[in-house]
Amino acid sequence: MRFSSCFGQYPLAGGYDVTKAIEILRAEMPNFHGSDDEPKNWKSQWEILDFLQQRLKPDVRSLETGCGYSTVVAAESGADHVTVTPSADEQVRVRSFCNKYDIDHANVTFAIGPSCEMLPKLDGELHLVYIDGAHGFPHPCVDWMYTEARLAIGGTMLVDDIRIPSCRMLHEFLMEEPNWTLDRFIGDTSIFTKLAHGNNSADWMHQGINRTYPDFRYLPKAQQWKRDARHAAEWVARATGLTKPIKRVLGIK
Ligand SMILES: C[S@@+](CC[C@H](N)C(=O)[O-])C[C@H]1O[C@@H](n2cnc3c(N)ncnc32)[C@H](O)[C@@H]1O
Repeated sequence: MRFSSCFGQYPLAGGYDVTKAIEILRAEMPNFHGSDDEPKNWKSQWEILDFLQQRLKPDVRSLETGCGYSTVVAAESGADHVTVTPSADEQVRVRSFCNKYDIDHANVTFAIGPSCEMLPKLDGELHLVYIDGAHGFPHPCVDWMYTEARLAIGGTMLVDDIRIPSCRMLHEFLMEEPNWTLDRFIGDTSIFTKLAHGNNSADWMHQGINRTYPDFRYLPKAQQWKRDARHAAEWVARATGLTKPIKRVLGIK
């Protein structure tokens, strides 16, 4: 079964619902992140929490890298949810918060450790993946790599913080891949639907992101133009069969 038909049972509400969890989070603004000495709040955008609240339901299997407000929303939803974070303290804080406000969190499993170590140990089909863990390169891409094949066709992939170049690299890659379609942006989070399973054995030249090959932008401008012109001339030579004279003019052996 394609997952989109499963979502069909849960049409999105016209507006944003306010749930108990979101209401409490808004009122309490808990600090789930940082240390006890230096607590921090790196919460998701409220609109993302609303989106998750609409999409996560008891028969949805979901995974997020990173932990916090989104985890509380996942707990309340009843979704079969996995949270990957290296911080055991975050798990304690989120579970305590849920206990305090009578939010059942038995449906949330924590995988404690960096996502690059934990994700390869996990399996099972997913319907929604929220990438919001480590933001430095290559972590968002690594998080995607270990979850994309598990995501059902029709499933949802959220890439957070795409104003950060190391996160936007993943966004830009997905924008060029035919088996992903961008549904929408919510602030600086891009939300993609998976249209088909990817072909991981396909070589680099089949990836949309490499369509600009050969790409000489790493060279100084003058050399760039020279290489572009030479490449164009070589292409014309091959296309017209005039390889030898054109190569002679260009001084290519
Ligand atoms: C921006 S916060 C996530 C915010 C959360 N989605 C929320 O709504 O509150 C980033 C999270 O990534 C976690 N993190 C940092 N390094 C990580 C890693 N290597 N793998 C997984 N998570 C990581 C942090 O502990 C933190 O929970």
